[in-house]
Amino acid sequence: MSFYREYILPGIVNHLCSSSPITRQREKIVRQATGRVLEIGVGSGLNFPFYDHRKVSLLIGLEPSLKMISMAEKRAQRRMDRVSFLDASACQIPLESNSIDSVVVTYTLCTIPDILSALKEMYRVPKPGGKLYFCEHGLAPDKAVLKWQNRLTSLWRYIAGGCHLNRRIPELIEGEGFYIQEMKTTYLPGPRPLTFNYWGRGIKR
Ligand SMILES: C[S@@+](CC[C@H](N)C(=O)[O-])C[C@H]1O[C@@H](n2cnc3c(N)ncnc32)[C@H](O)[C@@H]1O
Repeated sequence: MSFYREYILPGIVNHLCSSSPITRQREKIVRQATGRVLEIGVGSGLNFPFYDHRKVSLLIGLEPSLKMISMAEKRAQRRMDRVSFLDASACQIPLESNSIDSVVVTYTLCTIPDILSALKEMYRVPKPGGKLYFCEHGLAPDKAVLKWQNRLTSLWRYIAGGCHLNRRIPELIEGEGFYIQEMKTTYLPGPRPLTFNYWGRGIKR
């Protein structure tokens, strides 16, 4: 992994992902998680303040960047009681099948390189009826915006650690088996190619 990706990028991502509109989005989703929770790409732990501690028995934070894990560990000391970390990729989740109540993923499906393998794994680990709580940015419905998303994605991926602006989030989630029970969309404030958000709840059939 390059110096930029391992040491510089985590600070930039932490900063970009801490804006007020994004923070409000996190709260809507994360507070719904219950039981044994697996957070995919936990990053620096920006979701920790929003878990409902009365409803979460264990939070497992999966994250392949060691720098991100060390940032999350510091935040966890202040915010979380029952938390453990897995230094792993979502493409190979080192957990048993049907062992998780809630999978949480925020602003990460845009970044994982082999997204289909990751979603297969994210479908394998919850119990039947288990939930996927997601909050992501992705392909916009407006032609003028999506034209720019397609144009900018290769440059943006390079700058932003592999982030794609143009992933079809609901199609990806449903394509690997989840049924989307509830989903909302909107543009957040900011440049439109970067800010079309999807958030909601999927269920393992
Ligand atoms: C934009 S950050 C979002 C972090 C965090 N989820 C949040 O909401 O603040 C994307 C995260 O995806 C992680 N990531 C990249 N590839 C991954 C993979 N294969 N499996 C799991 N996480 C991955 C990155 O290390 C990074 O922490």
